[in-house]
Amino acid sequence: MDATKGLEVPGETLEAEVKAFFDSAPPLQNSDGITQQLDQFIKRNSSPSENGKARRIVCVTSGGTTAPLEQRCVRYVDNFSSGHRGATSTEYFLKAGYAVIFLNRKGSFQPFCRSLPDDPLLECFKPTDESNIQVCEAYSEAVKRAVVDHHTAVTGGLLLKLHFNTIFEYLQMLQIIAVSLRCIGPRAMFYLAAAASDYYVPWKEMVEHKIQSGSHLLDVKLVNVPKMLSVLRNDWAPLAFCISFKLETDSNILLKKASAALEKYKMDAVVANELSSRKEQVVVVTSSENVVVKCDKSRSDNDVENPLIKLLSEKHATYIEHPGR
Ligand code: PMT
Repeated sequence: MDATKGLEVPGETLEAEVKAFFDSAPPLQNSDGITQQLDQFIKRNSSPSENGKARRIVCVTSGGTTAPLEQRCVRYVDNFSSGHRGATSTEYFLKAGYAVIFLNRKGSFQPFCRSLPDDPLLECFKPTDESNIQVCEAYSEAVKRAVVDHHTAVTGGLLLKLHFNTIFEYLQMLQIIAVSLRCIGPRAMFYLAAAASDYYVPWKEMVEHKIQSGSHLLDVKLVNVPKMLSVLRNDWAPLAFCISFKLETDSNILLKKASAALEKYKMDAVVANELSSRKEQVVVVTSSENVVVKCDKSRSDNDVENPLIKLLSEKHATYIEHPGR
C-alpha cells in the first residue's frame, strides 16, 4: 500500500474520492435525531452567557475508528487511541467556558472518569444486603465528583456526547456537526484528536457474511480514506478554528510532518505528539511559532491537556477578534 497516496491527490480527485467514500457508506442511523440534538445544543449555547458573549463551542473527537471487513461485521481493522486525550481535553474545555460536542468511540475513555478504576461499576460499589448497594469508602469522593461534574455538564446543556464505531459513522457525524456549526462562524472550534482510519473497504465491495477461515492468505482490497481536513476547512465549516493532531513514533519526522499538515490542510494549529511521550509533552505547531507544552508535575491537575487547552483557548479568542487567516 502507498502510505502517501492521500497526500498527493489534486483537488478534483479528492472531490471524487470524498464522493465515493460517502456514496459507499451505509446510511447513518438516526441522522435526523442527531441533527436535531445539535441544533438544540447550538441554539442553547448561542445566547449571551454571564460575560455577555455567546459561549464558544468546540467539537472534540476522540478514540479510534474501525474499518469493518464484513457487512455483518465480525472482523475489523482498528486504530490506536484510548480516548484519554479527548476525554481529558473535554474537561479542560468545559473549565475554560466552552460548550463541548464530544464525538467519541463507544467504549473509549469518558470525561470525569479519570480517578475511577477500570471497572467502576463493579469496583466502586458493594452490596450491603440483598437489595441495596453502596459506594465503597475508598472511592466515595471520586464517584461523587465524577457523577456531579458529569451531571452538571450534561443537564446544564454544556456537554453533548455522540458515539461512533466505524470510520463511516465518524466521518458522517463529523460532517453533520461541522455543517450544523457553520452558523456560528469563528466561535466554533474543531479539536480532532480521534485516530481516523486511513484505509477502508467500500461498503458495496464488502462481503456480507463472516469471512471463512481456511486459507492462509486474507485477500481484502483496502481503499485510501480521503483526508477530510481539507473538506472540513474549505466546505463544511470554513470559518471554524481548526486543530488537528499529528501522531508519530519517530520523533525525528514529527515536526516536519506536523508543519506539512498545517500548510496542506490550512489548519490553525497542529498538535504534534510522539506516541511514548504523548501524556507528558506535545508541540503546538502554528504558522508563526512552535510551542512546546509540558505537564507541570508540581500541580495536582498535572495533565498536559491543562496548559494545552489554555493555550488553544487563547489562540481561539485572538482568532475570533481577527478571523482572517
Ligand atoms: O487517545 P489517546 O490514547 O489518549 O491518544 C491520543 C492520540 C495519540 C490518538 C492523539 O493525541 C492523536 O495524535 N490523534 C491523531 C492521531 C492520528 O490519527 O493522526 P493522523 O496522522 O492519522 O491524522 C491526522 C489528522 O487527520 C487527525 O486530526 C485526523 O482526525 C485527521 N484525518 C485522518 C484521516 C482521515 N482520513 N481524515 C482526517 O481528517
